[in-house]
Amino acid sequence: MPVGGVAPVVAGPGRLISGFADERSGQIAFYGLFLGSVDSGLTVDDVLRDNTDGVVRGNLLEFKLSIPDLNVVVSQCVKYLSAERLKGRPVPANIILIDLIAEVAYVYGSKRYMELVERVYSGAASKNNDGFVAGPFRERLDYGSSDLDRQRLIDVMRTNDYERIHLDANCIVGWGREYYRLNPAARKDAFLGDEGEIRNPDTFRDYIYPYEGPTNVEFQYLMDKLNDDLSKKNLGAFYTPKCYADKSLELLREAIKRVPEGNDYVIIDRCAGTGNLEKGMTDEELSHCVLSTIEFYEYKVLVELLGARTRAIIPPVASRSVFVAGGNVRGANAMSRSYLENEVVMRYVRDPKCTIIMYENPPFSEATSVDHQSKGKSGTATWRNDYVVKEMKKAISGTDISIQAAQDLGNSFIWSAFHYYLRQPTDSYVVYSPVKYWKAQNLISKRFIDGYGFNRRWFHTNIDACIMVALWSNEDSDMDGFTINGYDYDERNDCLKPAVPLEVKRLHSRVTDYYDKRPIPEADRRGVLAGLNGYETTSRKPSGKPAKGEDLLGYMAVYGAGFDNPELHSSLLTAGRYDGHGFYLHRDNYLEKLPLFCASRFISYNRGWTERGLIMKSADGKDQFERDVRSGKLDQWLLKCLLFTCLERQNHMVTFTGSDGEEYRNELTLDTTNGPTIAATDIARLQTGPDEAALLLQWDQLLEAAKATREYDPAITYGVYQIGTEIDTSRKDPITGKTIYNNVPVHSAMKALKPLLRDYYNTEIAPVLRKYEYIK
Ligand SMILES: C[S@@+](CC[C@H](N)C(=O)[O-])C[C@H]1O[C@@H](n2cnc3c(N)ncnc32)[C@H](O)[C@@H]1O
Repeated sequence: MPVGGVAPVVAGPGRLISGFADERSGQIAFYGLFLGSVDSGLTVDDVLRDNTDGVVRGNLLEFKLSIPDLNVVVSQCVKYLSAERLKGRPVPANIILIDLIAEVAYVYGSKRYMELVERVYSGAASKNNDGFVAGPFRERLDYGSSDLDRQRLIDVMRTNDYERIHLDANCIVGWGREYYRLNPAARKDAFLGDEGEIRNPDTFRDYIYPYEGPTNVEFQYLMDKLNDDLSKKNLGAFYTPKCYADKSLELLREAIKRVPEGNDYVIIDRCAGTGNLEKGMTDEELSHCVLSTIEFYEYKVLVELLGARTRAIIPPVASRSVFVAGGNVRGANAMSRSYLENEVVMRYVRDPKCTIIMYENPPFSEATSVDHQSKGKSGTATWRNDYVVKEMKKAISGTDISIQAAQDLGNSFIWSAFHYYLRQPTDSYVVYSPVKYWKAQNLISKRFIDGYGFNRRWFHTNIDACIMVALWSNEDSDMDGFTINGYDYDERNDCLKPAVPLEVKRLHSRVTDYYDKRPIPEADRRGVLAGLNGYETTSRKPSGKPAKGEDLLGYMAVYGAGFDNPELHSSLLTAGRYDGHGFYLHRDNYLEKLPLFCASRFISYNRGWTERGLIMKSADGKDQFERDVRSGKLDQWLLKCLLFTCLERQNHMVTFTGSDGEEYRNELTLDTTNGPTIAATDIARLQTGPDEAALLLQWDQLLEAAKATREYDPAITYGVYQIGTEIDTSRKDPITGKTIYNNVPVHSAMKALKPLLRDYYNTEIAPVLRKYEYIK
């Protein structure tokens, strides 16, 4: 690039394509000229993907302003092709390099490079390409100067040929995903079975070679990722990585030490998957294991890998007759009645001279999870009708166990372990699960002996969250808290990172205890209702009567101990929420309700794995909090909460005119354009230090920028959220696909507010929330 950073505009007489400033615009001009002749249905958007310069039918295209060394560019293309294979995409048979300035295309066949394509590369494709020998090209086409060559280039680009690839553990997940995308109704059998796609390709017959492995053992660590959508819901299979499984063996060994002298013992894992928890066991330990898993292909791997070394696998041999519809194993559903009657397990449970140790990572499947609901179309989870799940529901109703606990398949495993299997005080359960079953749901009240916290990300999820593996003794206990060591995983060095202490404290109250429960006078039972987006909704079925009155300034709903789905469980609206779940804010005490909203935002500003899944909301400090509010000790802090609330985007209070003709005004904003709001009046009492001043200044800039836009309506009292939805709007660039903001100064002011607010929250708000156990 010349001095000053301005790229040359490639132009000149006699050129086919001129007037482009850089590689990107040259490439777009090239496609503009050629694509229509290749395939009139193709757009630039269709061909550009995944950092390649484009795939046109069976051709990978790579553009350069000029190509001084063909070897380097072909090497780069080989890496792109390798990435295509890993993603389950067909590998184009041709590579076409385009030298934009010389207007020359070089065509290579991919076949020659397939051995290299089937390797895995890390880092950018454009790096480390020296030393590669591309060999001779197949054709060189002067598309700039020769009509004949132009036509030839079009003919090449019209070809739709691919090189077939071999399946292995590196790429099987990509091809599995692609297979289920193209065959949404397909089950795992159709992909992985003896007659399935991988051994007998049909959808991919032109793209892959049949897989010839006699079993699926090669994919043992990936079987969870190869589930179809329905199985994902039902199986909740998230496998334990080796380093975590090895660490939890320490707990298992503590449990074995508790076996009384002279006793036999069995280690039961009812949901063993492909046996990840057991792989690090000694032969002696394995010889005590009774294992099973519901899913047929996991079961086959389990038998293959561990069958001969365990005490029993249920059922003992992998004959074809054990396969039942839906891909399950006959008799292996641990939630079924027949499993509870299975003598292979139950004879040990009945034997008083045998100690029972259960060692499990139960399926993680919550009926209420976002994932569960969003994938509704592919069928619903069937486990909710299982015998044990229903028995648990009956047993916990009317007890202090949260009924919510029955919405989680993992909880049914935990409950049933204590209910049906563990009998003696020296029996133990080593179990993986997020802590809420003990912390918030009172599912068990047993003696905690030892445990660790692990990052859920490494269990084939993308979520940073804490999973606890705990060793429980089968003895009742009312312990109130304990500390565990938390270990993240160091991927590069394949080891655990140094331990961090994590406190696990039990909750004794619900955050909804803070709700204002004063009855609303009948005269105020009028008005409209709002959706989660803050605006009036009439299309949703309301669950209660709306309210509007002089004394009422908005509606707050903050519920649930955990932080799953925080957008649903945290609402602050101008009108009542259509589905209720909250309470109306009154002018006289709204300030002391704001910490509730602040608490509900905790996870948005603290996304570390040591917080999510471990930290929860409670009203355990309510008495102390209310005493301190009454004494005036918290006056200034409540105003800080007010400042935070006014500037936080999840505050969905908006100003609008309802279908009843009344104005619903956002009173929790600092926009005084149309006269003071309640918040603006109260915030005047806040003693502002530099942090508050910076926030207020940023708010002023945001409002000012909003006022300068076409979309601004002077009759509206805006909050941050309403500026976000109505003014900080964006569109997609049709060519590049990039987001273009319609009002850049507004967007910039909005972006600048976010880190300021996060820091303010974490220094000024969160510590006090913790002190009063809003966050615990
Ligand atoms: C979280 S994975 C754990 C697998 C393995 N133990 C590990 O740690 O990697 C849960 C396993 O439970 C199995 N599973 C799900 N529902 C089951 C049921 N009702 N009965 C038995 N196994 C079940 C799934 O197929 C899956 O392999």
